[in-house]
Amino acid sequence: MSYYQPAARTQNYKYAIRNIAVEAQKVEAAGRKVTYLNIGDPILYGFQPPQVMIDATAKAMRDGLNGYAPSVGILAARQAIADEANVRGIRTSVDDVIITSGASEAADLIFTALLEAGDEVLVPSPGYPLYSAITAKLGAVEIKYRQNPKDDWQPDADELRSLITPRTKLLVIINPNNPTGALYSKETLESLLQVAREHHLIVIADEVYHKLIYDGVHVPMATLAGNDLPVFTMESLSKNYLAPGWRVGWMTMTNAHLIADLKAAIRKLADARLCSPLAPQHAVAPALQMNAGYLAPTMQRLRDQRDITFEKINSIQGMNCTKPQGAFYVMAQVDLQQGELGTDEEFVLALLREKAVLFVHGSGFGTVATDGFFRIVFLPDVETLRDVYGRVADFTASYREARLVTVK
Ligand SMILES: Cc1ncc(COP(=O)(O)O)c(C=O)c1O
Repeated sequence: MSYYQPAARTQNYKYAIRNIAVEAQKVEAAGRKVTYLNIGDPILYGFQPPQVMIDATAKAMRDGLNGYAPSVGILAARQAIADEANVRGIRTSVDDVIITSGASEAADLIFTALLEAGDEVLVPSPGYPLYSAITAKLGAVEIKYRQNPKDDWQPDADELRSLITPRTKLLVIINPNNPTGALYSKETLESLLQVAREHHLIVIADEVYHKLIYDGVHVPMATLAGNDLPVFTMESLSKNYLAPGWRVGWMTMTNAHLIADLKAAIRKLADARLCSPLAPQHAVAPALQMNAGYLAPTMQRLRDQRDITFEKINSIQGMNCTKPQGAFYVMAQVDLQQGELGTDEEFVLALLREKAVLFVHGSGFGTVATDGFFRIVFLPDVETLRDVYGRVADFTASYREARLVTVK
C-alpha cells in the first residue's frame, strides 16, 4: 500500500460522461478516429457564442480588466441577471445573485454550505451525475426519484413524497432534463413543489437549458414558489449562450429571507474561492440583453438533429427512444433482454471498440444497467449523425444476434 492514499470521499465521486472518454482514447491510440457523442459541448460541433459576447469579453481584457472580480460577481452582471429573471417572473434581487464558475460551482457551494454527512438529497434518476458526485463527496446520501420512460420521462410527486425522511434537505429538479431531454409541465412542477413545501425542503432548479426548447413552454420553477419556499435557480453561459469554456454561471435565490443563514454561509464559501473568471462576466449583461432571435439558427439546426435522431433510433430493430422536448440529449434504449445480453456499459464499450462511436451508458446517470439505456448527444450535424446511426444499426444487429445465439 502507498503512503499517499486519497481520501475515502473520492471513492464514489464519479462522472461517467468524462470517465468513459478514457476508453475512447485507447481506441484512438490504436489509430482510429472516434466520433464523440458523449459530452454536451456545443463548441466541439461547430457552434460558437454570439459575437457580441466575444467582443465584450475581449474588450474587458484589452481594457485591463484582468484582476479578481468580487466573489459574488460584478454588479453589472448581477443586475442584468436579476432584471432578466424578474422579466421572466422569477422573484429575486441583485443581492440574491451569486456568479460562479459555471452552474457546477453553484451546486457545489450550495450543497457544501447546507449538507451534513448523512443528510439526504432527492435527485432525479436518470439525472446529471454532478449532483450524485457532490453528494457523495460530502458524505451525504442521494435518494433517487424516478422519471418514468413510459411517461415521457416525467417524475411522479407521490413517489417523491414516499422517499422523504427526517434527513431530507434538498430537492433537485433539472428542467429541461439532462440526460432525458424531458420538459416538465407546470402541473408536474407544482406537484413537486407541493411536496417540497410539505416537508420544508430547499429546491434546486437546474435550468441551464431553459432556452433550448423544441416543443412546449418552459416554466421557471421559481415562478411557482409563492412566498414560502426557498428556490435556488441555476443557470449559466454554457448552454443557453454557447460558451461552456468561459466558466460563468450563477445562482439566483427566490425567498432568500427564509434562508438568510444559508445565504451568508454560501457567501463565506464564495469569498475563499475568490471569484469566477472576470472578463467573461462582462459578457453577461450583453448576453442577457440580446434579442431572443440570436438562438434561432442554433435551434433550427438542433431541431433537425433531434428529429433525425428520433427517426433513426426508432427504426433500428431492438432500439427505441422518446422525443426530447429540450436540451440536446436523447436517452435511447437497446433491448438487452433484462441483462441476458449484458449491461448498458458493455454495449456502449463494444460499440465504441467495433464502430468508434462513443455514447454514455444510462447507469452513468442512474438507470439500471440491464435496462439498456444510453445517452446520445445530438450536437453533430445531420450528415455525421446519419453516418453514426448507420454504424449503430449495423452494430446492434450483429451484437444482439451473436448474443442471442449464445443465450439460447
Ligand atoms: C443539467 C446540467 N446542469 C449543470 C451543468 C453544468 O453546467 P456549467 O457548465 O454551467 O457548470 C450541466 C452540464 O452539462 C448540465 O447538463
